[in-house]
Amino acid sequence: MLRAASLFAAIACLAGTLTVPAEAKVTVSISCSSLGIEMELCRTGAQAWAKKTGNEVNLVSTPADANERLGLYQSLLAAHSTDVDIFQIDAVWPGILANDFLDLNQFIKPDDQDDYSPSLIQNDTVNGKLIALPWFVDTGLLYYRKDLLDKYHRKVPQTWAELEETAKAVTAGEGSGMQGYVWQGRAYEGLTCNALEWIASSGGGTIIGKDGQVTVSNAQAAAAIDRARGWIGTISPEGVLNYDEEGARGVFQSGKAVFMRNWPYAWALANTGDSPVKDKVGEAPLPHGDGANSVGVLGGQSLAVSRYSKHPQEAVDLILYLAGKDEEKRRWKKGAFNPTLKPLYEDPDLKNDPMVAVFSQVLNNVVARPSTITGRRYNQVSSDFVQAVHAALSGQGSGADNLAKLNDTLTQLSRGGHWQ
Ligand code: GLC
Repeated sequence: MLRAASLFAAIACLAGTLTVPAEAKVTVSISCSSLGIEMELCRTGAQAWAKKTGNEVNLVSTPADANERLGLYQSLLAAHSTDVDIFQIDAVWPGILANDFLDLNQFIKPDDQDDYSPSLIQNDTVNGKLIALPWFVDTGLLYYRKDLLDKYHRKVPQTWAELEETAKAVTAGEGSGMQGYVWQGRAYEGLTCNALEWIASSGGGTIIGKDGQVTVSNAQAAAAIDRARGWIGTISPEGVLNYDEEGARGVFQSGKAVFMRNWPYAWALANTGDSPVKDKVGEAPLPHGDGANSVGVLGGQSLAVSRYSKHPQEAVDLILYLAGKDEEKRRWKKGAFNPTLKPLYEDPDLKNDPMVAVFSQVLNNVVARPSTITGRRYNQVSSDFVQAVHAALSGQGSGADNLAKLNDTLTQLSRGGHWQ
């Protein structure tokens, strides 16, 4: 029966009578991050597009860890896999993955790019090619327990010294089981973000300067790492050396920590219906060292279309939908994902939101990881940095010793500042 049917189809095809209908619907595969509720929001957004267009979507799940997700993407792309049409990529990956993505300038007119923040478009542009569309912006923030600071008559800490002092006072009062400060100390990209914040907010630079020279080995940077080492076993649990974003959020959201460093997404989850800390949390810029400014690391994600996609047109249509006004607003409302479309910040809902105000304040003082200057070598740079910091945090050598060794490794890798 089957045989007869396919024979008939082959004959019909040869005779030129079997053509693919012009409105044939396709299945577009999209790979999103699974951090927090990212996958769920990606799914509901993609399904809404499918419903609207009559196409289908297939969600490809990924690890929550940024480095593991990058590894997965690299193997799919190296194999020129057609299994994934759209990749959600980290703000630090354009230089690493650019060659495997389509130039969106061929599909999206300049007018339609104008509403996106120019610096984000710039970040996603590699050698003149727009390789991804900015989807949401992240920056590191300090979360604090309003109720506990009130109870102990403490202010929101402005400096790292104040944070240490307050964390100690509150945990002493609350007794065992309450942690002072939770953050991302595992050896992965999240630690790069945390450690860069400690260093930059202490006047220790940005690992690598804008001119490509390695700047990481300096007294302020070493002191910032040593200070964080001092938190472990005092205001932070030993286990923090294995925390990622969700690990830290788990402790904080269950009511077991006074302070947390995390991205904006944690705000929405901390305030959901069944969260034990609902309405007890505040958000502020991260603290700073003496004589330096508070900073947050710039993060965020974009949507890219694979060069190997069999459905580029539909894939571009889907990313335009996901990074469109309605969907960016829905994601902000449900998940606290900050939009990349400038006009949305004029929307009264966002304009009057106190958390958007904190976020925008931090955005004025963000620090970028050195991904543009190091291009495809960024992941190596970040891994080397993470190893050095994690060793120092684990008590294997001082901050200064580890950063001096890192300086040698990176200087060799930098080829005199010519990274590309
Ligand atoms: C968030 C940020 C991303 C960062 C990652 C680190 O997903 O958006 O930029 O690299 O966290 O874990």
